[in-house]
Amino acid sequence: MSISYNNNFLHFDNINLKQFSEESLTPYYLYSESLITDNFNTYVDSLREFNHLICYSVKANSNLSILSILAKQGSGFDIVSGGELQKVIAAGGDTKKVVFSGVGKTEEEINYALENEILCFNIESNDELITINNLANKKGVTANVSFRVNPEINVDTHPYIATGMKDNKFGIDEKTVISLYDDASKLDSLKITGIDFHIGSQINSTSPFIDSIKKINNIVTVLADRNIHLEHIDIGGGLGISYESNANLLSIKNFINELSPLLSKTGLKVIVEPGRSIVGKSGILVSKVLNIKSTPDKIFVVIDAGMNDFIRPALYNADHNILPIVSYASQKFICDVVGPICETADFMGKDKELYVKTGDYVAIEDVGAYGFSLASNYNVRPRPDEYIINSDTKSIKKIREREDYNDMVKSELKFLKT
Ligand SMILES: Cc1ncc(COP(=O)(O)O)c(C=O)c1O
Repeated sequence: MSISYNNNFLHFDNINLKQFSEESLTPYYLYSESLITDNFNTYVDSLREFNHLICYSVKANSNLSILSILAKQGSGFDIVSGGELQKVIAAGGDTKKVVFSGVGKTEEEINYALENEILCFNIESNDELITINNLANKKGVTANVSFRVNPEINVDTHPYIATGMKDNKFGIDEKTVISLYDDASKLDSLKITGIDFHIGSQINSTSPFIDSIKKINNIVTVLADRNIHLEHIDIGGGLGISYESNANLLSIKNFINELSPLLSKTGLKVIVEPGRSIVGKSGILVSKVLNIKSTPDKIFVVIDAGMNDFIRPALYNADHNILPIVSYASQKFICDVVGPICETADFMGKDKELYVKTGDYVAIEDVGAYGFSLASNYNVRPRPDEYIINSDTKSIKKIREREDYNDMVKSELKFLKT
């Protein structure tokens, strides 16, 4: 266990959180490098029978130091914007291992990706196909392309993170995609290299992946009959993690093992785009208790982390474990843990059983994915510090400085009339 109590004091990767919190500004994110690399290497081990590429999905957590750790492990990257590509390059990532996903790539972003010779564009529509071909043509280069198929598969996850259902904006239906491959094969500035899908996030069963791969395999066969031969299949990301301590969820190893027979059948190189399953469990958010507020109906524990720092509970009704950093084992009460933001949705946890006093600290677990990357300056609050525990030295290193007032207003101040 990377998070556990030692003599009533919560430790993360053997770091005493009370001591560190007292020396630091709160809230802060703290990650474990070894958890990140362990997860990445579990993907590597599980996929070793395949010619494969793991493209870490940058949106899950785009801190430069985390991208750099993964780049050093040999990771590729799944990006959805020019900004993410810039960060990958800054972190020392290899652009020849980058796939570019997303329904709305701008011309500027496409040009930037072409200049940096990325591995592949995951195309989402006919219009995008034409745009990429024209831009590649103007530059006199060839763009490698894959089409994102919408396999129209229902997944058991929050509707906001299901992306492979019939009425979602993502991907191209099976029929249309065949004709787009035909069209692409006639365009001079494109090279067809693959096929991809991504059906959603926080999925804890292999069956929607199995159904999707079966559909993709049928498409691959139809394309081969038309003399269109692919090099890779990209199965996207989406593997879930357990947000409850006792939940017994699908492991990375079992996930890949269960898909392997079908993937072998394709004979293609396998690309995966995991985000959450690599970084999700590697991070905690530590926050200070500002007040304990009792109403006739409820006890509210008001902490200094708000939905601007961590929005998953407000956005997805996500339920994260919240642990006091010093545990007073015998005493507990039921409370809502809430932030300081002026929104009723600003809660970190509802009906939590814990005991804390004003001035204590709490740790919100499993926030490494879609935590800081979704943070904002709402209510003119600075985004927090981020730290990582180095896997060799077991010491803490700052990897992002908390914003100050100037950071938050600099792009507005210059327009202020005096
Ligand atoms: C195209 C694509 N690939 C990969 C991912 C990563 O998904 P996850 O973090 O669930 O592994 C996402 C997330 O939304 C995505 O949109």
